[in-house]
Amino acid sequence: MTMKNGDANSRGGTLLYEQVAGDIAGLIAQGTFRAGDRLPSIRQLSRRFAVSINTVMQAYAVLEDQRLVEARPQSGYYVRSRVPEIREPDLKSRTFIAPATVTISDLCQQVMHNMMNRALLPLGSAIPSARNLPIDKLNRIMANELRRGGDQAVLYQMPPGYERLRVQIARRALEAGISSGPDDILVTSGCVEAVLLALRATCRAGDTIAVESPFYFNFLQMIAELGLKALEIPSTPRDGISIEALRYAIEQSRISACLVITNFSNPLGSLMPEERKRELVELLASHEIPLIEDDIYGDLTFENERPSAAKSFDRSDLVIYCSSFSKTIAPGYRVGWAIAGRFQGEMERLKMIMNIAVSSPSQLALAEFLANGGYDHHLRNFRRINARNISQMADAVVRSFPPGTRMTHPAGGFILWVEMPEGTDAITLFHRALEQGISIVPGPLFSLSGKYSHHIRLSAAQWDEKIEQGIKTLGALAQELMPG
Ligand SMILES: Cc1ncc(COP(=O)(O)O)c(C=O)c1O
Repeated sequence: MTMKNGDANSRGGTLLYEQVAGDIAGLIAQGTFRAGDRLPSIRQLSRRFAVSINTVMQAYAVLEDQRLVEARPQSGYYVRSRVPEIREPDLKSRTFIAPATVTISDLCQQVMHNMMNRALLPLGSAIPSARNLPIDKLNRIMANELRRGGDQAVLYQMPPGYERLRVQIARRALEAGISSGPDDILVTSGCVEAVLLALRATCRAGDTIAVESPFYFNFLQMIAELGLKALEIPSTPRDGISIEALRYAIEQSRISACLVITNFSNPLGSLMPEERKRELVELLASHEIPLIEDDIYGDLTFENERPSAAKSFDRSDLVIYCSSFSKTIAPGYRVGWAIAGRFQGEMERLKMIMNIAVSSPSQLALAEFLANGGYDHHLRNFRRINARNISQMADAVVRSFPPGTRMTHPAGGFILWVEMPEGTDAITLFHRALEQGISIVPGPLFSLSGKYSHHIRLSAAQWDEKIEQGIKTLGALAQELMPG
């Protein structure tokens, strides 16, 4: 070994333990030590390298992380054997392609990818802008929770989830008119998982789910992936899902569950009036059909008080309420929840089978944020910003889009649904906009039956000069696409 003595902590900008780890890795690469060989003890290396015991231990930890060495109890460190990597499938042979129906649309994938592409103007993503989220406070809370949480953040918080968080969620649910205790709450990985578990708990492959139309494309894809059929029930911006059409559908076909975004839906922004929510719950209950309610945007009302949930009218325990903190606090924390009534036990079981638990640090931080972090204050600001953004974006659309364009006027959330004159092809607009560095979501994604060819969904999560310019460009592109 030819380790040179250097200064005590770092050499050439590299930390000393990294340097020691690098030297040992070099010895392995040269074949000085081979797979299965015992490496020098910590004490030996400390003497030879003239570094502290601690430095050698850190170096070995790095090498363990790199899967180069392994520790054997009471014996020391050994060079790991190099098991060959699993071979990549031969993509050219095509034999791996199963004869299953392809259900994930390429366009949907592309839209999802665009949401992550920071080079694009984010008019397509229904994700709150980071600049409007309480990031500094959350970071401080997370750091504190990790410091004082002991093993809580490291170990599983098994379903139904971290109790302190469930207490906070139960208190908040009261504002949506839901009386629940912490034991009624199942913490999930976002709202999407809550809905997925709800669909799994209520339906079997081949079953039919009634949904609003237009409807959030990710859920349409999910329904298809689960082998379920979606029955698209017309929905209006003012009233949400049509109860009359749903009643007719129930008479005509066997419906296993109904999935509805009751408050500020995606994409229409509909806010179901209270009376309609009651009718919906009663109609479904009278046929013993579970209602899966997604209320992810409910806290984003532009009024002072959030609207109630359909779950608040549930007398039969047949409504599965789903929501998350993705639109209000931190989408990346991946924390949502379900209040699932009679399906609670089954959903908890499924959750455990599928991915055991939700990230513990996220749950700890959110529990503290809800208890002492000023959520109400944040919401007040956030609602004001969203309301202003929506109205500025709507004005800009009116100024730039072709005459005859219509759009929604939501009373909450940050999404606009724009209907361009008939014949203006939304998918072509989507591609042309991308060429100009702008992402939008084309209307046809919001239906499985080819509707909404001249509609687009815009996100007003952010408003600034660039976005304003983006709307102008989009409007000009739409003008070019107008038929005849
Ligand atoms: C209606 C609706 N539900 C769920 C989600 C995603 O929720 P989460 O990120 O909490 O899984 C979205 C995101 O766009 C949404 O619009």
